[in-house]
Amino acid sequence: MPEVVVYIAHSLDGLIADRDGSIDWLKPYDAADYGYDAFLRSVDAVVMGSVTYRECRGFPEWPYPRKAVFVMTKGPRIDEDGLAVFDDRTPVEIAVDCERAGLKRIWVAGGGWPIRAFLDAGLVRRMHLFQIPVILGTGTPLWPPGRKTWEARMERTTVHQNGVVETVHAIEAPSLRGR
Ligand SMILES: NC(=O)c1ccc[n+]([C@@H]2O[C@H](COP(=O)([O-])OP(=O)(O)OC[C@H]3O[C@@H](n4cnc5c(N)ncnc54)[C@H](OP(=O)(O)O)[C@@H]3O)[C@@H](O)[C@H]2O)c1
Repeated sequence: MPEVVVYIAHSLDGLIADRDGSIDWLKPYDAADYGYDAFLRSVDAVVMGSVTYRECRGFPEWPYPRKAVFVMTKGPRIDEDGLAVFDDRTPVEIAVDCERAGLKRIWVAGGGWPIRAFLDAGLVRRMHLFQIPVILGTGTPLWPPGRKTWEARMERTTVHQNGVVETVHAIEAPSLRGR
């Protein structure tokens, strides 16, 4: 199976978008080098929810050129221009499809439900989180409720000069404690 990774920024109170669904609160932290370009080069496919996709389509440039993009939605196709596949399949079905296509590394970009779905399906191998020193109060949670408990092993922590705390965890196995 392809390696599935999560790579996402969240507020101190665990939110990925503010009360208006905006990520503008991340802008003051954009200037630092978090290794994003190398990370993006390392992935073959990007999975996201339909809200994140619609937001990406509003950007001046499509942020994922030459990547296979899978948009999780139970609704109809959002666009017809071939930039993305619109998908109501399960995470396992999407991962198997990627494997058949020779795609080795999948980034589940967000939001919270797609990340949770891939995690609960046992597919996420590494989680790369950026904790932004902002408390938003209300907004979109990184972690909607899940079905399983997982053991994670800390691989590294980097405290950036701007106060952003970057953590990388390997997801090991379902926890016996959570069953
Ligand atoms: N901080 C960051 O780094 C970061 C990263 C990514 C996104 N964001 C922000 O997060 C917000 C979006 O997150 P979100 O959680 O609101 O929305 P989202 O995950 O992008 O999209 C949610 C939608 O995706 C579809 N979906 C989700 N899980 C599914 C599944 N398992 N199977 C089928 N369809 C599924 C459903 O859409 P349908 O109604 O179409 O079925 C659902 O309403 C945006 O504001 C975005 O800017 C932030």
